[in-house]
Amino acid sequence: MCGIIGYTGKEAALPLILGGLERLEYRGYDSAGVALIENGSLVVEKRVGKIRELVKNLWGKPYRGRTGIGHTRWATHGEPSLENAHPHTDERGEFAVVHNGIVENYLELRRELEDRGVSFRSDTDTEVIAHLIAGAYEGDLLSAVLAVVNRLRGAFAFAVVTSKEPGRIVGVKQGSPLVVGVGEGENFLASDIPAILPYTRRVITLSDGEVVDVTPEGVNIYDFNGNPVTKEVVLVPWDIISAEKAGFKHFMLKEIYEQPKAIGDTIRGLVSAGEALPFDLREFRRILLIACGTSYHAGLVGKFWIEKFTGVPTEVLYASEFRYADTPVNEDDLVVGISQSGETIDTKFAVNFAREKGARTLAVVNVVGSSIDRESDYTLYTHAGPEIGVAATKTFTAQLAALYYLSISGHPQSETLLSELMKVPALVEEALERAEEIERVSQDYLRCRNFLYLGRYLSYPIALEGALKLKEISYIHAEGYPAGEMKHGPIALIDESMPVVVVAPQDRVYEKTLSNVEEVRTRKGRVIGVGFEGDDRLAKMCREFLEIPPAPEDLTPFLTVVPLQLLAYYIASKLGLDVDQPRNLAKTVTVE
Ligand code: AGP
Repeated sequence: MCGIIGYTGKEAALPLILGGLERLEYRGYDSAGVALIENGSLVVEKRVGKIRELVKNLWGKPYRGRTGIGHTRWATHGEPSLENAHPHTDERGEFAVVHNGIVENYLELRRELEDRGVSFRSDTDTEVIAHLIAGAYEGDLLSAVLAVVNRLRGAFAFAVVTSKEPGRIVGVKQGSPLVVGVGEGENFLASDIPAILPYTRRVITLSDGEVVDVTPEGVNIYDFNGNPVTKEVVLVPWDIISAEKAGFKHFMLKEIYEQPKAIGDTIRGLVSAGEALPFDLREFRRILLIACGTSYHAGLVGKFWIEKFTGVPTEVLYASEFRYADTPVNEDDLVVGISQSGETIDTKFAVNFAREKGARTLAVVNVVGSSIDRESDYTLYTHAGPEIGVAATKTFTAQLAALYYLSISGHPQSETLLSELMKVPALVEEALERAEEIERVSQDYLRCRNFLYLGRYLSYPIALEGALKLKEISYIHAEGYPAGEMKHGPIALIDESMPVVVVAPQDRVYEKTLSNVEEVRTRKGRVIGVGFEGDDRLAKMCREFLEIPPAPEDLTPFLTVVPLQLLAYYIASKLGLDVDQPRNLAKTVTVE
């Protein structure tokens, strides 16, 4: 993962780089660093921890250099430490590199360099790049990078500067994201668009196998053989205001509240003629939904809808498992890659693998121009806007909207079903009105060390998602389970200290779920029920009852997830934890 940024132009580079790094911090925050060209020399500053540690260290230092690169790290090779923090330099301190991703053959390259007498200062794979470029340099940075890049294996992106050519940054994209921001007399490089949005909305998205040569005057792109490549400059529609906190304590809370808009915008975007589906799902023998994390949970909900409305057998697979399994895939299959970022490497590889096998591929992504978007045959966009909190919330419900839309397309009652879907934003708005009650409830659960989440049918993926939200931001262990499976094992865990969150809207499995609630109560478990407003029967069985507005069965996942997001948020926030940037996580996972 990691975030990289570069600036070259007419302004002092440091504040622009630090601003960009703060917006990239969601990609990793184990350490941060910058390299600047100051009066013809390379200066490197780095710190362990978050960007604010780096900023504190830079106070009062009069750097005015107009070219520089920056990095925020999510550790892969080498523990989080000052030595392993980026930028990494060659032995003479003339070349500095920031890097995202993994150089898989770095040990082999490192041994070769060490045999030549090069001494290493870090445990990272990145340092080999700096030494290799310094070794290949003969007066032209671009040529040195081109000489090195074909020797690197893996999925990565990096940017390099040298004191020998102030004003120039060379960037490489191979598997990890890298975009160019085009300005007036200044240009930018970054892992992600939001990092550069305050400075420019004109963006070039690089493709794998491209090298970019950036100076204040221009941007030139080449393939790995040095042949020029022509790319389109795209005007990004987001503005930075939508990436600020707007008075909320955390981005996550703001994003939970943005769900009615995210769902509404997604439905409107999909309904518009431009995103009409070019095929009927019923043409396929089978549909495979492939994703990771929260996007996988959206896929689990989508499977129920697709099978109900189309009758096409549908499977949901973890991308990381699918890619290395022997699952047969062929031209009769539709493979749907679901990904907020559109950059998750497991999902990207899985979709590409399926396409090579002849399957048709469809992306459901939030980031326009992301790798999975570009590399799939078709795309359905979730119009949720930028999501900054590491825990996915609004992009989850926007994915649900896209998957519901997909499942009803071509259905004889699609118009009626679509008009039902259009009521969801208002229902989610109502569900959010109960936030105060959930905040009050959360207070009693701050000391719990384990939670069980149960649900059946459409509420089972929601139980999984509720448990994931709690564990990722509060560090409390939580397990999601199909309610009917509880008696086959997890019931042994239940005693008076175990909170059990039961998702029980009045759907086809309501009575069955209530029997499971009884089983928990009999063993003195503390039941937190999520159910329809006015459901006194469920309310009486629970220690806490979190209400949602009544809704048709198929639409309940949009609503039942809201109290679970809020419960996780308030527990983590009351524990004083870093809700938006939980430990060990990163927003975009670009390593396998
Ligand atoms: C969600 O809260 C997580 N942080 C994570 O599981 C995420 O959903 C997963 O990494 C997939 O990301 P993607 O949607 O960008 O592919």
